[in-house]
Amino acid sequence: MQAPAAYVTDRVYPSYFYPESQPLWLSTVARLRGLRGPDLDRAYRYCELGCGTGFNVILAAALNPVGHFTGVDINREHIELARALARDMGVRNVEFHCRDLQGFVQDNTVAFDIANCHGMWSWVAPGVQRSILEFVARHLKPKGLFCLHYMCHPGSTAMIPVHQLFRSMARQGKGDSRAAVARGLEAVERLLAAGYYDDQPRLRERLQGLKRADADALAHELLAEFFSVHHAGDIHWLAAQAGLSFIGSSEPFYNTDPALCLPSDMHPLLESDSSPAFVETLKDMGSRRPHRSDVFQKNAALPDARERREALDSLVFLYDGAAAPDFPAIATPLGPMTVSDEAFLRLAELARTDGRVAFRDFAAALPAGTADGRGVQAARMMLHAGLLRPEQPEASRAGVQRLAAIDRLLAARNVGLRLRRDCASGQFLRTQAW
Ligand SMILES: C[S@@+](CC[C@H](N)C(=O)[O-])C[C@H]1O[C@@H](n2cnc3c(N)ncnc32)[C@H](O)[C@@H]1O
Repeated sequence: MQAPAAYVTDRVYPSYFYPESQPLWLSTVARLRGLRGPDLDRAYRYCELGCGTGFNVILAAALNPVGHFTGVDINREHIELARALARDMGVRNVEFHCRDLQGFVQDNTVAFDIANCHGMWSWVAPGVQRSILEFVARHLKPKGLFCLHYMCHPGSTAMIPVHQLFRSMARQGKGDSRAAVARGLEAVERLLAAGYYDDQPRLRERLQGLKRADADALAHELLAEFFSVHHAGDIHWLAAQAGLSFIGSSEPFYNTDPALCLPSDMHPLLESDSSPAFVETLKDMGSRRPHRSDVFQKNAALPDARERREALDSLVFLYDGAAAPDFPAIATPLGPMTVSDEAFLRLAELARTDGRVAFRDFAAALPAGTADGRGVQAARMMLHAGLLRPEQPEASRAGVQRLAAIDRLLAARNVGLRLRRDCASGQFLRTQAW
């Protein structure tokens, strides 16, 4: 009997760019925790596991000529497209390996400063998940950063039977993945019309959105042989076995004080000695976010006061007032929030005045002793709102040469994204398709 393919290979996964996986962004998450993390001004190595068509890692390479970037993916077509795109864009500091991760982990001899795994963990077999952890245990440098994206409870719990529905369509073996997705969508439509999801309004809304999603993205999302949803505490425990400590989310809102990022009716549940796992569970319950993007540091140690000061003082932010036109009201996963904290308003004012602000100057403008607490919260909230973006230091920008040509290529291919040298990231001109 032939085993079914564990992962969809007959459709190409669409190309997406993830600002929150970019080196400077991840380094900023660490620095706001008072951790130095990898030095991005010196040669460093970044690896993307399950890189798809390489779009994200190629743009990361174009924006960060100091680094060398590696993409690994099992799908030959994805890797051929990635190599062709890197060639078309003239990006040379990136390389690709068409490998099953399980084999790559055994053969790789490079030590990486940053690793990123997006859109893979929840869709692969437990053995591949173990390889992801083995990769970071063996090949991530001490103090290196690892960003792991996965589907989480309870926001995605209700998707488990939906995945089963689509998977059983695929197992009938009638036609390719596209045909299985179409049959699955038809079944979902019928169930919606019959009222089967009326008691789960959030799920109903999510399912209604499926028909507008890219069919090839759905094939990868819904037809893989494996689909797992996780509790953050379990992932953090597994990661700890690989020498990793959870240092926060790549989405800064979730790194703010629980008083901000938890609904107020959860506040009485918090105690001074509440464990981090308990607090993360409350965050996932309060926001019902479908997935998490967690940042870990290898062999992390609590920073001393000097490291903390240096990490924070190294941060400079650029201001973008257009990102939150209703400021001081900003959109959050818990709904609109009006921020009245003095530190927040002070940071906004400083940033608006000059178009950029160094954390060091902001800290000096706050009452003594409040910069590390309220000041950091304010910076996280403003990063979340898009009002601030981390600034790429001049030294690291020097070699960025081809962005105009890449932007022209993106425009010609109707990609709604423009690259920004000043923050080593991209700016979306419209929402990504998925
Ligand atoms: C949903 S796509 C995500 C692509 C990209 N990281 C993103 O988030 O846009 C998952 C990718 O993981 C790759 N993949 C699945 N199993 C793999 C394995 N065992 N080894 C290497 N890559 C694998 C697939 O080929 C696919 O490109």
